[in-house]
Formats: sequence, structure tokens, C-alpha cells
Amino acid sequence: MNSVHTNSIKNIHKLSIAPMMDCTDKHFRMIMRKISSEALLYTEMIVAQSLVYTNTKEKLLDFNNEEHPISIQFGGDNPQILKEAARMAQDWGYDEINFNVGCPSPRVCSGNFGASLMRDPKKVAKCIESLKNSCSLPVTIKHRIGVDDDDSFRYLNNFVRDIANAGADRFTVHARKAILKGLNPKQNRTIPPLKYDIVKKLKKLNPELLIEINGGFHNIDESVKALSDFDGVMIGRSVYKYPLRWSEIDQKVYGINTKPKSASDIIFSLIPYIEKHLNNGGKSWDICKHLINLVESIPKAKVWRNQISTKSIKKELDIEYLLKLTSRLEEMGY
Ligand SMILES: Cc1cc2nc3c(=O)[nH]c(=O)nc-3n(C[C@H](O)[C@H](O)[C@H](O)COP(=O)(O)O)c2cc1C
Repeated sequence: MNSVHTNSIKNIHKLSIAPMMDCTDKHFRMIMRKISSEALLYTEMIVAQSLVYTNTKEKLLDFNNEEHPISIQFGGDNPQILKEAARMAQDWGYDEINFNVGCPSPRVCSGNFGASLMRDPKKVAKCIESLKNSCSLPVTIKHRIGVDDDDSFRYLNNFVRDIANAGADRFTVHARKAILKGLNPKQNRTIPPLKYDIVKKLKKLNPELLIEINGGFHNIDESVKALSDFDGVMIGRSVYKYPLRWSEIDQKVYGINTKPKSASDIIFSLIPYIEKHLNNGGKSWDICKHLINLVESIPKAKVWRNQISTKSIKKELDIEYLLKLTSRLEEMGY
């Protein structure tokens, strides 16, 4: 079990790295933690039912002690099962529980959770109450500005107030609606337009609530600017594809006086972690598939990435090779 991070929710929510299935696993989160010591990290969505009824609990819950502060995201719609899952998350050492009511995947929605659950505020409130009553962790929610025809401001505002009354500690609002009839999950992250003004209005009308904005932020300066309207900013795709473009989170968001790290600094600092993973029989690609994104927009970035990927996919990558290629980056000043 890991120790609970001491930061309060108010300190950790200014910038967070979004939950993303198949992306924000523990290895990616370790990379992000080397980039920012402060940002709140999220797990991928874990279906509460799978956690409670599976015999791979340890694998689903596993994270590295260095990852704190870390929020575990649950999908689900059964308050009893969520209660069990919340207890497990608390015992395992997570800092926060997030409830996902924004995922538009048909597989998720067919289980009547994710975005489709936003149509049933009473059920969402019951789930939040159950999570709150079963643990002492902050319980937060991630949702859209609307779903299909339930997309008026009034609907959103009532939804948020109901969920606040149920005890939610923070609202992460992906500033586009979900269109469940006709768009796939990928399209649902690009086609419905981003409407920051709606989320701004929500915050203005509910100043006492902690509201984090999500969707479409591409750089640190845009994010810092958003903090004048919102309590926090959540970043997804941009941070996954271009992690190093976010190297000034600690300086610009948290006012920490340190030098932003280079790609080689980060990779060198991960060497003991990668070595341990390989020694335990882990595949190098598990980590390298994320790591290669650190090297972009510099001369010969593609060559560097190809060399790492090819060796790694062929299962021939060892620490000496990684050190050699990383030293080359360092010599070039990256
Ligand atoms: C590959 C991928 C997987 C995602 N998985 C999840 C998830 O598990 N839970 C969730 O709440 N949102 C998920 N999302 C949505 C993101 O958390 C975020 O809300 C969305 O990408 C918008 O933010 P962005 O424009 O900064 O990327 C996912 C997005 C992507 C691209």
C-alpha cells in the first residue's frame, strides 16, 4: 500500500493530466511526474464492477509511490459496487476518486454508465453519495456540458447542483456535449464544438463550487490564462502527444522556482525505473511507447524515435542502448 499524499484537494487541482484509456497507465504517469511534481494525475477509467469482481485487482490498482497526487477514475452505475471499489481505492492509497460521466463509448454507454448516465442525475447523485459515504477521500466527477438533446444550460446547471448536493468535491467539465446517436468516441472529442462560455457561466452562477475546465488546451500559457476563470485545467491529448511542451507546469502554474527539464534529463531520471521494469520481466515497449513522445520538434527526432521503437518492438532494447541514444540527445542540448 502507498502512503497518502498530504496536499489538500485545493492545492492539487490547478492542473491535471486527463484520464485516457490506453494512454495514462502507470508508466506514462511516471514520465509525467518527472515533468511536473505537482500536477494531479489520473488513472485510465477502471470499471468498478471489474475491479470488485476480478481476481486481477492488484494489477488494476497498481501505481508507483512517486505518482502522488493521483486520482483513480471509476466508471459504473451501481452504488453498492462503487462503495466497494471506493474502499479498495482508499486502502490502496489513492488520493482522490473521480467518477466518469463523460465517456461516450458505446460499450461503456450500453452498460448505462459514462456519458449516458448524465441523463439520469438521480442515479449519478446516488453513486456520488455512495462513494462519499464509503471513504474519506475527495470524490470528484468528470462530465460533459450535455448529452444529445439534454444540452440546455439549465439542464447542466441543475445537474451540477444536484451532484454538488450529493457531495461532489470538484467538477471537471469537458466543454463539449456528447452526441451518443451517430458519433463514435473519437468524433465525440472533436466534432461537438467546445463551448468554454457555458462552463464560465456555470462557474459564475456557482462560485462556491470547484470547477475545472477540460477540452482543447494546447499549451501552458493558454492553460494559465484559463485559471483566471476556472479553478483548474485538465489537459488530455496535447500532453500525451507532446509531453515536453508542458515542461513549465511547475514554474508557470505552481510558481516553483526550478529549471524545466529536458528530454534527456527526464529519460536519465527514469533509467532506474526502466531497469527495474525490465528486470521484473516487463517489456521495454510498455514504457518506450510513451517515452518516444518526449522527442519531437528537434533535428533527427524521427530517427531517434525509430531507433528506439524498432529495438523495443523487436525486444532487443537494453539499458545500455537507451543510455547511448539519450546521451546523444544530451550532447545536442535536448
Ligand atoms: C485515447 C483517449 C482515451 C480517453 N479515455 C478517457 C477515460 O478513460 N476517461 C475519461 O473520463 N475521459 C477519457 N478521455 C477523454 C479525455 O480525458 C479528455 O476529456 C478529452 O480528450 C478532452 O481533453 P483534451 O482536448 O485536452 O484532449 C479519453 C481521451 C482520449 C483521447
